[in-house]
Order: sequence, then structure tokens, then C-alpha cells
Amino acid sequence: MTFDVPTLRKEFPTLSRELDGQRLVYLDSAASSQTPRVVLDAMDRYYSWSRSNVHRGVYQLAEEATDLYEGARAKLAAFVDADPRGVVFTKNATEACNLVAYSWVRRHLGEGDALLTTMMEHHANHVPFTFAARDLGFEVRNVPLTEDGQLDLDAARELVADGRVRFLAVGHVSNVLGTINDVGELSRIVRDAHPEAKVHVDGTQAVPHMPVSFRELGADFYAITGHKMLGPTGIGALIARPELLDEMEPFLTGGDMIRDVTLDGATWNDVPHKFEAGTPMIAEAAGLGAAVDLLTELDMHAVRAHEVSLTTRMLEALSSVDDVTIHGPLDPTLRGCAVSFAVDGVHPHDVGAMLGSKGVCVRVGHHCTKPLMRCLGLNATARASTYVYNDVDDLAPLVDGIEAARRFFAR
Ligand code: ALA
Repeated sequence: MTFDVPTLRKEFPTLSRELDGQRLVYLDSAASSQTPRVVLDAMDRYYSWSRSNVHRGVYQLAEEATDLYEGARAKLAAFVDADPRGVVFTKNATEACNLVAYSWVRRHLGEGDALLTTMMEHHANHVPFTFAARDLGFEVRNVPLTEDGQLDLDAARELVADGRVRFLAVGHVSNVLGTINDVGELSRIVRDAHPEAKVHVDGTQAVPHMPVSFRELGADFYAITGHKMLGPTGIGALIARPELLDEMEPFLTGGDMIRDVTLDGATWNDVPHKFEAGTPMIAEAAGLGAAVDLLTELDMHAVRAHEVSLTTRMLEALSSVDDVTIHGPLDPTLRGCAVSFAVDGVHPHDVGAMLGSKGVCVRVGHHCTKPLMRCLGLNATARASTYVYNDVDDLAPLVDGIEAARRFFAR
């Protein structure tokens, strides 16, 4: 399929809806993307044609289901340039971050150690590590932000200077500020101070929107989720270096993840199966595989180019409205396509409600980033975020709705 937004939009059933007679303008893909027909069809085909469990039966249906599931792993691995043995399916990115927290951080960090993270992390990439720190007594240090919402790398150098930082947890792209973080440089800073330090990246807002090479990034762990990249809810993945997974103990235990079980113990299956206990998300994997196929066909370089161009127009459109402040970098090449903004004198929830009444879907709230909100001195923001099915036609309703909120609510 070529990258033509009007043609592409037709593949997303939800986008043909009208809300109260108004065209649906979906600007909340950073929360969850829409689902194309190919994904719905792939899941439907599994349930209506190949429905059975994986890795167990020796009959045709079971082989088809296993092929769908393992095929999705191979597709995702190729999509992010990783070894399929290092692709562990999880229910979402939060579970992937918890897997790392439980199976690596909690087993390696203790008193006297420090973990480096940043002021802009999503709770999924923050709470599993502060919880571990509370239990184990290691220190958590946070890289502060510059005025324009980027990571302060000079401050990061100071934070690692004593050589005690053994783990870095950082988001690739901020879900609030849109900032694309220089993960490579931050990893170098951390590893220069402690060569054995491990790097974990939350890639949920990056992988759907730009080409990502896990190998080139040089991270040890990378968390992603399916529902933000045209796939279904209920499936994500931890991408990891397989040799690291080999050394790690499992996170969840039970069926399918074992090699042998005795009355008083068990040995573990090979990776990645060692980390996939129980019947997995087979239909969801089939759907995610179809989503990856579609994004691959669209070409992630083209997706990124489309989004840089649309974000440029969105930043211009929002800047044209009086009393609107945009949070995060104003240079579209430094950011993803989630754009948080404030309207002076109007609560973000009122902005969101006014936009919602006009069929424009944006997210409002703290966006699961309470430490960042405190750092910015805010309780909440409104956030508009685009994807492959949005174009400039979606920006006028956004601006009109914000203008209406200003007229109605501003004191
Ligand atoms: N992490 C998602 C968001 O930023 C839910 O909206």
C-alpha cells in the first residue's frame, strides 16, 4: 500500500464514524492507535480458521497457530532489527518494564548502587524501578530537563560521575513533550562511568513512528506495545539481548516456560520461551504481525517524514492561537508527533471536553507522568497526537475547538 492518507484512512473502520453528525477527528494515537482492517482480519482468521493452542499439538490447526505466533515474533524482530530469540511477548510495555525490574534490576542492584532515570518517564518506566529501590535500598537519580524539554546531558554526566550508576531506564520519545531523547549518547555517558551498566529503553512512543534499530541503539532492553502501532491491545514485547536473557531468571513461572519439572523444582526452557509462561496472546500476535506488515509496507522512513511534516503544521497551527503554550521542543525534527499544550486560563479538561463535543479526540490529564507534571509546575496538559491516518484536514477542527474553549471558558 502506498502512503496516501485518504486511501489509508479507509482501511480503519472507526475513522469512518461520525460523532453527533461531525467527522471523527482522532488525535489521540499516543494513547492508542486505531486498528486497520488487515489487523482485524488476521485476528478473525485465527479465531475462525486456525483456533488452537501453540507449541503443543501435532495436528494442522496447532501448527498453523504456532506459525502465526512465531511468525509474528520473526516479523517484529525484523521490524526493530533484533534477534528473534530476544523478542519476548508480554501483555504490554508495562509488563516488559516489570520483567526487567524483577528479573534484572532486583537481582543485581542493592545498597550502594544507583539507577539513573529521567524526569520525563512514563509511570511504566518509573514505578517498577522506584518500587525496587524502596525494597532493595539502591538510589534513584533523575536526569533533569532543559528549558525546551530535552534531557540535560551535562547534568547526567555529573549524576554518573561517582561510578555507582549500574542501570539506566530512559524513554526513547516522551509521551508528553514529544522529545526524541539521545539514547545513544546518554547510554555512552552511563557506560563510560560504569562499563557494565545496563540500558533499558521505553520505546512505546518511538517504534510506531520512526525506524528503530535495536542493534544500532546498543541498548540491553527495549520495551514496546502493540496497541500504539496499529496492533491490538493486550500484546507488547520486551526486546533484549538474547545472551542477557539467557543469564536471567524468569519473571513469571508455569506452563510452557519450563524444560523439566520435578516434584521440588524445575529447569527453564530456552529464551525467549523462558519468559512466556502460560498460553500466550495468539490472536493478538497474529494481529500485531499484520500491523508490522502494514507499517513495513508503508516504510517507516515515509511514516517519519509524514509525521515531521504534519507536526510542523500542527506546531504552526497551535502557535497561531492566542494564549496557547506548547510544551517540549518546537523543532519538529527533534520531536515525535505527540504535542502537549496549555491554553492560558482554561483547564485542560475543559479544552478536552470542548474538543470532544466537536468530534475531536485528544487526551487530557497527567499522561501517567506525575513527576514530569510536578517538574513543569502543572497538574495536567491537553495533548494532540497524530499517526499515519491523520493529515492537515484534522488540524482546522483542532484549532477551532481550542478557539471555542478560549471563548467559552477563559476568564
Ligand atoms: N501511555 C499512553 C499515553 O501517553 C497511555 O497516553
